[in-house]
Amino acid sequence: MSDPRRRVVVTGRIPVDGIDMLEAEHDVWAWDSSDPISRDELLQRVAGADAIVALLTERIDGELLDAAGPQLRVVANVAVGYNNIDVPACRERGVIATNTPGVLTDATADIAMALILMSTRRLQEGERVIRSGQPWQWGMFYMLGTAIQGRRLGIVGMGQIGAALARRAKAFGMTIAYSNRRAIADDLAAELACVRMDLDEMLATSDVVSLHCPYSPETHHLIGAVELAAMRSSAYLINTARGPVVDEAALANALANGQIAGAGLDVFENEPTVHPQLLELDNVVLIPHLGSATVETRTAMATLAAANVLAVLRGEPAPTPIST
Ligand code: DGY
Repeated sequence: MSDPRRRVVVTGRIPVDGIDMLEAEHDVWAWDSSDPISRDELLQRVAGADAIVALLTERIDGELLDAAGPQLRVVANVAVGYNNIDVPACRERGVIATNTPGVLTDATADIAMALILMSTRRLQEGERVIRSGQPWQWGMFYMLGTAIQGRRLGIVGMGQIGAALARRAKAFGMTIAYSNRRAIADDLAAELACVRMDLDEMLATSDVVSLHCPYSPETHHLIGAVELAAMRSSAYLINTARGPVVDEAALANALANGQIAGAGLDVFENEPTVHPQLLELDNVVLIPHLGSATVETRTAMATLAAANVLAVLRGEPAPTPIST
């Protein structure tokens, strides 16, 4: 006999395909607003849940796991980044935590490449000129950007997204360096024609630095005043990983003082707040955490999260458990 229907709590809106999969086997309660659920309401709603499908805006910690109760078996994050989940707290309680690797690789690499092109070619500035009604005219020296061909892209964290960005950047004529705890496989290194460097060396020699490492206490403010000072004054910083990997105040200063040439940011230290100094600067592209924001990708993320829940509740291995 198959398992009885279980209670699944979804902490925010997700594409309907994911909800349909869950409802086919279980009773689902989902927060139905585009504003994040309040902490108090979430603590109440998770009581008795066998599974929680979490968005990255919700903190899943010991308090919340205890509020759910000892029957809780799985927390499925609808994101590849899982800094919102206390994984050791899940493990201590026998709760399996899962994420959504793979399905958002291309979408996020596309956004990183777009930020490289936008910031080096000053597209955000040009767009603002036209929209604000300022006079403009084609001119030999008007709003010149920087060519990326033959320039070095330094990738911090060469996982799936870093490698997908490297492929794109290589197609645009960039050369690739990376810094990573471990060397990547020889065949991938050969395909990307990339060299591994210490972070310091890579920061000092790259024309564009793009961040793709997970956020953890070890990577908190990995890029701060010292690291920004080590970069070339002609270099650009791109962040599609997590905001707190960068010291945003230090970045704003570096951009304002011409310590680096520009930046492209999809993520922020205190989302949805953006450091006020950044808002005043022309040489930074600011977009609201859109890395995985395509219909196709969000659907794939929701269905992968649902597949993780269904597998665990059936007593099968989760397709994409968080392994650290
Ligand atoms: C992720 O999956 O970690 C992304 O930031 C979501 O857009």
